[in-house]
Formats: sequence, structure tokens, C-alpha cells
Amino acid sequence: MVETLIKIEGLSKVFGDSPETVMDRVHAGESKDDILASTGHAVGLRDINLTIRKGEIFVIMGLSGSGKSTLIRHFNRLIDPTEGTIEVEGTDVMELSAKQLEQFRRHKMSMVFQRFGLMPHRTVIENVAYGLTVQGVDKDTRTAKAKDWLETVGLAGYEDQYPAQLSGGQQQRVGLARALCTDAEILLMDEAFSALDPLIRSEMQDQLIELQERLHKTIIFITHDLDEALRLGDRIAILKDGELVQEGVPEDILLNPATDYVEAFVKDVNRARALTVETVMKPPACRITAATIGEALEQMKKSSVDQEYGYYINDDGYQGVVLQETLENAAKEDASNAMCEKVCEDIPSISPDSLLEEVLPETLDTEYPLPVVDEDGELQGQLSRTSLAEVLGDSSANDDDANVPNKIAS
Ligand SMILES: Nc1ncnc2c1ncn2[C@@H]1O[C@H](COP(=O)(O)OP(=O)(O)OP(=O)(O)O)[C@@H](O)[C@H]1O
Ligand SMILES: [Mg+2]
Repeated sequence: MVETLIKIEGLSKVFGDSPETVMDRVHAGESKDDILASTGHAVGLRDINLTIRKGEIFVIMGLSGSGKSTLIRHFNRLIDPTEGTIEVEGTDVMELSAKQLEQFRRHKMSMVFQRFGLMPHRTVIENVAYGLTVQGVDKDTRTAKAKDWLETVGLAGYEDQYPAQLSGGQQQRVGLARALCTDAEILLMDEAFSALDPLIRSEMQDQLIELQERLHKTIIFITHDLDEALRLGDRIAILKDGELVQEGVPEDILLNPATDYVEAFVKDVNRARALTVETVMKPPACRITAATIGEALEQMKKSSVDQEYGYYINDDGYQGVVLQETLENAAKEDASNAMCEKVCEDIPSISPDSLLEEVLPETLDTEYPLPVVDEDGELQGQLSRTSLAEVLGDSSANDDDANVPNKIAS
């Protein structure tokens, strides 16, 4: 079951001298610019409702000033809402006493900042262990733990350096190690990778994905970069002028942008690089599970009149693609012969997790939709040239034999 970890309801935040006095305008939908011009109040957030699930990477995206930082600062109550509620594991954070809030910040959530936020006069290892120092953990334990995390982020040997002696990417790794070192279940990452150059940034993204596969934290990641959002996010929320304009899984955002604003974001995304096979595959048209050639042929004909191929599956899972023609020829010899992988074509299978980009050559090269087979050897679906062409934005290819234009193949 999917467990809700953070639940935001009716959250609005207005900055200014007397926010309550402008809430009617906020609810009436008056624009942020108008409210600022006539009252001097800045609308940070307007009526946000969302839930963040345990164990997911939830990305918050939007242009500068759209309210991203304001939103996540409500999660650990660095900011108090003007209206609305923030619940973390069923606890209303506004109800926490000062003491409880302190515990909550130390143990429940840790934050990775855009500009690293390291303490310049402490060594790398002291920086990483800092959260544990505050928690009152003894020196040996915290040093051992901090050392482990430094090693995990690839910085073994840098323990006694000072932050200024490290490159930006290394400092960001220290920031990440520090956040992970507290064992907090929730990581808040506010543009944590934005200051890094593209190559290091991409490495950090890989590292975060890898870590997450092991740690299963709940990560709330802010970015204004859609490619980063698509790469990291299990779900993505898009903010504009303090409002939530769309929330969904990456494919959803890419394929069904809710507004022109979202569309403008997704317009230049390379879909082949952003979508996985799983998101565009179709269910297999024909599964052949029969024991003999004759039964297999019957099974294929039954599945549809003009079905010319099927995917042969036995107790060991997916075996290969069989063509009707091959089966017919084999049946002429003896239809009672057992089915075996010898009648199968040599057609590559692809993984549901592959990016479309990675499977383009095979998919375009093969006459039949490629079998999508998971790591357990089970057939999950099929991917045809048509599906690929449709999703990559070409509608001229409308059957599997259509010529696929060069621009897709290249
Ligand atoms: N302390 C504050 N006082 C007044 N207005 C504020 C304050 N903090 C944020 N705002 C306003 O709230 C809005 C949202 O700001 P926020 O910092 O959340 O944006 P952001 O999406 O994080 O932007 P960026 O990508 O530039 O970090 C802005 O219009 C900003 O002016
Ligand atoms: Mg911000």
C-alpha cells in the first residue's frame, strides 16, 4: 500500500504586513502581480493541495519566484502558513511544541542546500558529522558514521580537508553526506545540484538515484530544470506564481501537459531520452503457450485473423518470436511436434526500463514489434515502430510497415 508521508491541504502563504487582509483577494483569484501592486503583499503560495508518499522522489518544479522554496520550507516549519495545514505522518506540524519541533528537525528531515551550506572552519568530516553532534551522539560513533558516508559519496581520504579546499562538486557531495548522516527519513533538496556544471550534475543525479535504490528515503527535490525533474522524479509537481498547475508522473507531464506554461517547459524535451520503454509499450498482441506446433498455430489464429506472429512462452518464461509462416511450414511436416525455441526468430528483446533512445535502432530495424521482457524473463509487452513514432511526435507512420522518417532514426 502506498503510504502518505506529507499531506498539504489548502496551503496559502502571503508575505507582507497583514496577510489576512488580502486573503479574500487571494481566494478570488486576483493575480499575484495585481495583489502586489495594490497591497504590497507577495503571494508566495495559493491554495496548494498535495500528498507526498513514503519512499518516493517528489520533484517540485517551476520558474524562479514560483514558490518552490516557500513550499518546502513549510514542511519543516521554517515558514508558517497563512492558511492551511501541513501534516507529516499524520502530525500537524503547527501543533508541535518548540521541543518537539527541534527533535523533528534533527531526526525527521534533513536539508541539502543549493550553495552547499558547509561550515568553513570545520573539516569535511566535522561537517558531515555535525547533525550527529547536535543529536548528542558520541565522538567515535559519529566519526565512524561520517567516514562511511564520505566513502559512499566518493570522498574517502578528504576527511581532514576544509570545504574551501574542495571543488564545487565535492562540496555538494559533502552536503549530501551530511544530510544522509543523520539518518533522517526525509531529505529536502532545494536546487541542490543547480550550482554544478552539467557533467558533475549528471554524476550527482546518478549517485542520488543509486543511493535511493538502497536507502528508500523520501526525497523532495526542487529544480527548475525539467530534464533533471524527469530523470529523478517519481512524481512531479509544477508551480506557477504560487499555484500548483500540474502534478503527475513524468510521462504524464510530458505527454499531457495541462497548461501552456507546462507545455512551454516540455516542448524542448528530448522524449527519446526521457521516456522508458514501459511507458509506451502495448500489451503483447499474442502469447503462444501451446505445447505443440498445431495448437500454437490455432492459438495464433484465434488471437486475431491477421495475426502473423506471436511470443512463445513456456514454463521458463519468454522464449522468442514465432511467425505464422514458420508454424505453417512446421505443421506440414507434423503438427503434433512439440513447440520449442527452435521455431523462434532471432529477434532481440528489450527491457521495460530502457530509455527509448537506447532501443531506437533495434525497434526501427525489426519488422515485428519487439518483445519487452523484464529481468525475470517475463514478457511484459511489445514495442512497435508505430508506438515509437507516435510518441516521438510523428503521426505519418500509421502502421508497422510504414517508412519511419530519418529524423527519428538519426
Ligand atoms: N521572506 C519573504 N518576504 C517577502 N516575499 C517573499 C519572501 N520569501 C519569498 N517571497 C516571495 O514569494 C515568492 C516565491 O518565492 P520562492 O523563494 O519560494 O520562489 P522559488 O520558486 O524558490 O524561486 P527560485 O527558483 O528563484 O529559488 C516570490 O514572489 C518571492 O518574492
Ligand atoms: Mg528557491
